[in-house]
Amino acid sequence: MINITIDGPSGAGKSTVAQDVAKRLGIIYLDTGAIYRAFAYAALKSNVNIDDVKQVAAFLDSADIDVRYDGCVQKVYMDGEDVTMYIRAHNISKAASDISKHIPVRIKLSKIQRKIAAANDVVLDGRDSGTYVLPNANFKFFLTADVEERASRRFLELKERGAEVEYSRVLEDIKSRDFNDSNRDFAPLLRAADAELIDSTRLKADEVADIIINAVRKKR
Ligand code: DC
Repeated sequence: MINITIDGPSGAGKSTVAQDVAKRLGIIYLDTGAIYRAFAYAALKSNVNIDDVKQVAAFLDSADIDVRYDGCVQKVYMDGEDVTMYIRAHNISKAASDISKHIPVRIKLSKIQRKIAAANDVVLDGRDSGTYVLPNANFKFFLTADVEERASRRFLELKERGAEVEYSRVLEDIKSRDFNDSNRDFAPLLRAADAELIDSTRLKADEVADIIINAVRKKR
């Protein structure tokens, strides 16, 4: 079984790289952030107070979260509804980061990820995939880049999707998510001791994917 983890901060290019790696190796790409986003989206829609762990935990207990694949395209279903198209909005990024600090949320969403990784060759991108979700994964990477570079990538991505945002706001959001994701008590954003560090500030996504694929092929 191939389990490749790619962790790192927001905007480091994890999802583009992970999708490319998955395609080139013919394996599944598991976007773990999409699961946090889908849960945050559903919680907001149900007027759950995201800072209140009791409310969030009660909502979590009743939530039916399902990850399915349409070919190699991942879809996340909440209570039977495909919410994949709603989860990229700006406010959902912040809500996902906030809701992900609650321990019951991390435990339940990590179980979903482990189940998929146990049954499939998979590349996951996330924050704690190599440290908490799959500590025994056979290939681990930690992808990072300078914060300004990450903010401009995210800004261009949002613009391409037609969003009306300012660069300074995206930069502030990325900084605040970095802080949130790295400073939560349970399973924070952290480089696993055995994860290879890749700085993508001056690398294109396909160059990063080459590094990962070469490392995987060499070890196999
Ligand atoms: O990777 P992303 O931007 O789609 O993730 C959105 C938020 O979800 C991120 O700020 C933190 C949270 N998240 C997490 O805590 N653990 C993960 N494995 C993936 C995402």
